[in-house]
Amino acid sequence: MRMIYLDNAATSFPKAPGVAQAMAGYITDVGGNPGRGGYTPSTQAEMTMLTLRERLCAFFGSPDTDACVFTSGATAGLNLVLKGFLNAGDHVVVSSMEHNAVMRPLNQIPGIFVDKAPCAPDGSLNVSAVAALIRPETRMVCLTHASNVCGTILPVAEVGALCRERGIAFAVDAAQTAGHVPISLTKLNADALVVPAHKGMLGPQGVGAVLMRRNFARCLEPLITGGTGSHSDSETQPSELPDKFEAGTQNLPGLYGFLSALDYLEPNMTHLAAQTQALCGELLNGLARLPHAHVLGKLKLLGRLPVIAVDFSSLDNAIVTDLLSSEYGIAVRCGLHCAPSAHRTLGTFPQGAVRFSIGAFNTADDVRETLTALDAVVTDRRVFAFI
Ligand SMILES: Cc1ncc(COP(=O)(O)O)c(C=O)c1O
Repeated sequence: MRMIYLDNAATSFPKAPGVAQAMAGYITDVGGNPGRGGYTPSTQAEMTMLTLRERLCAFFGSPDTDACVFTSGATAGLNLVLKGFLNAGDHVVVSSMEHNAVMRPLNQIPGIFVDKAPCAPDGSLNVSAVAALIRPETRMVCLTHASNVCGTILPVAEVGALCRERGIAFAVDAAQTAGHVPISLTKLNADALVVPAHKGMLGPQGVGAVLMRRNFARCLEPLITGGTGSHSDSETQPSELPDKFEAGTQNLPGLYGFLSALDYLEPNMTHLAAQTQALCGELLNGLARLPHAHVLGKLKLLGRLPVIAVDFSSLDNAIVTDLLSSEYGIAVRCGLHCAPSAHRTLGTFPQGAVRFSIGAFNTADDVRETLTALDAVVTDRRVFAFI
């Protein structure tokens, strides 16, 4: 049975052509540790990291190359931005659609105050809901660019303009949008943009970046300190960027893979986005005709990513997911998707939903076969078993 992979919001699969070879190439042919040696493999790896920083800054409209910092993914990036910036007494505004990668770090910071701007039942956010929560001690607004549950895109440009006007730091969790939609840190008026390599960027797991404005990065405390290969005469973490945030040996195979993914994505992003949106439209049309399927979020293509959550409300979502996998080879994700507040907003807490997320390498056949499988699954007596 062939697998139809529709869990690209969790991690994209397959990866961009060339990624695996670039990662293996580092291990077999390079092997040097940047900043740790003056010999060719070390300087070659250092140059690759610099090239990746420059290319990411160009791709994400960020002017300060030295304030582009590598991380292990979006979670590590968000931890850095939130815990490195916020202190007791600070107030922060988020949306009600945030992932736990935002909420859990915030809940760990002692003495801060967090307000959630309520989103509509389709996950959309009105900028006035954010404005209404801003108070004199508000130091940051942190927003997901798009919901990882239902794909609804949030108005980050408008919120960025509001933050700029009020002198508040603005952080954007672009875990779901990076690689799917054009993003410019400058145009969004963002101070920090958090991106993983392994989702829409089509790169490997275990690597990502935080793109920051230099002034914001200077205010941020590093979470991890240690050897940087620079200022080795000092036992204090250097303040120089990006070293301040990059202690320890970096994920070099991952960074080589990330650069290779960017090589593929840059010239292809526009047509890949058009293709995934077209498939999303097909799936939405088919789901609209499917008995028992209640699509969450936006029902049309405008203002959404190709991430579709469905509550098979009169059936058992877990059994639907299980049958899709075991009998039809279709990989989707059931549950709360690490975003309990988003599910509360959408009205699907605690039962959760089934998420179908389309990626760059899905085809019209994948969508057709999924809809055919769903026709059979929703009438399978086993999905009624625990209702
Ligand atoms: C909106 C959102 N933020 C953050 C994350 C965490 O990303 P990572 O797996 O790269 O740590 C995810 C992952 O699913 C996400 O969807």
